[in-house]
Amino acid sequence: MSLSRDELARIERLRELFLDEGRGERRLPDYWRDQIDLQAYDRVLAARIGWKWDAALAECQERGLPRADERLVVDFGCGSGIAATRFTHWCGAGQVLLHDRSPAAMAFSLAALRHRHPTVAAAIAPDLRDIRPDVLLVSHVLGELDPGGLTALTDLIARSDTVVIVEPGTRAIALRLAALRDRLLDSWHVLAPCPHRHTCPTLASGTDWCHFFATPPAAVFTDGELVRTARAIGIDARSLPYSFLALTRTPPSTPAPHARGLGRAAISAHAAHVQICTAAGLQRAEIDKRTQAQRWRELKRRPEALRPWPH
Ligand SMILES: C[S@@+](CC[C@H](N)C(=O)[O-])C[C@H]1O[C@@H](n2cnc3c(N)ncnc32)[C@H](O)[C@@H]1O
Repeated sequence: MSLSRDELARIERLRELFLDEGRGERRLPDYWRDQIDLQAYDRVLAARIGWKWDAALAECQERGLPRADERLVVDFGCGSGIAATRFTHWCGAGQVLLHDRSPAAMAFSLAALRHRHPTVAAAIAPDLRDIRPDVLLVSHVLGELDPGGLTALTDLIARSDTVVIVEPGTRAIALRLAALRDRLLDSWHVLAPCPHRHTCPTLASGTDWCHFFATPPAAVFTDGELVRTARAIGIDARSLPYSFLALTRTPPSTPAPHARGLGRAAISAHAAHVQICTAAGLQRAEIDKRTQAQRWRELKRRPEALRPWPH
């Protein structure tokens, strides 16, 4: 069903708020005006975030993230509830608690989750102070937290067993996530995406940041409605940059790969050039078209397809 003019205007307003570079350190006030704002967000912007969650959770599963069928899952800053929805799809959930500073967001996400996963017990949780999540989900929230919100989140992380954070792939937010990772290294295992548990090398690089690109579903290119919507709101539907971090209290069951590719491959006529993160720091790798023709072709077709990284 096509988006109405009103829905498009609502999405544009939200995007302007999210992308406002002039905001500096000022935090966004609660911007959800009603359920229609959330509905419009859910149809377009949250769908894109859902594809990023799909990519992050696929990698988490490869790295040994267990199912959560009996477990308490908390979605912090839930918005329309896309993180809880995608996590439940991939890993199951015993019970889901949806938390947001916005009562409208909690109400919308509860209805959405019940609709999409009717057999999972779900509730809103305006106050998380006594909650100890088995799995804590955080999605596109780090850039919005005021000092009080950040303290509430770090306290909640300390009470959690597993944490999965998915954020936009911007440099500023990725570096913030990397700094958070480094502060938590002593008491957590990094399940993904890191291939090591040393200090994050992007923090010292000055130019690099840990980010990836999800592959959008084919419909983004073939479904006329999706194509028109992307054009109308001025987004590049093919580009889904994200950064993420998954932490567990217990050591992962699967050994870490020796490297993780970052960003996208740069393709030349003779090779694909990729930045990789390893225990020895950030490095450049080259996939030679002549000797690794199949891999080169795959990267030419999908430059973001950087895992698994060959040994
Ligand atoms: C950009 S939206 C992301 C929503 C959702 N997690 C997603 O990925 O689509 C950020 C959400 O964080 C919420 N939020 C901002 N500051 C918060 C805080 N201090 N405590 C709880 N929620 C907060 C906002 O109300 C909003 O719903």
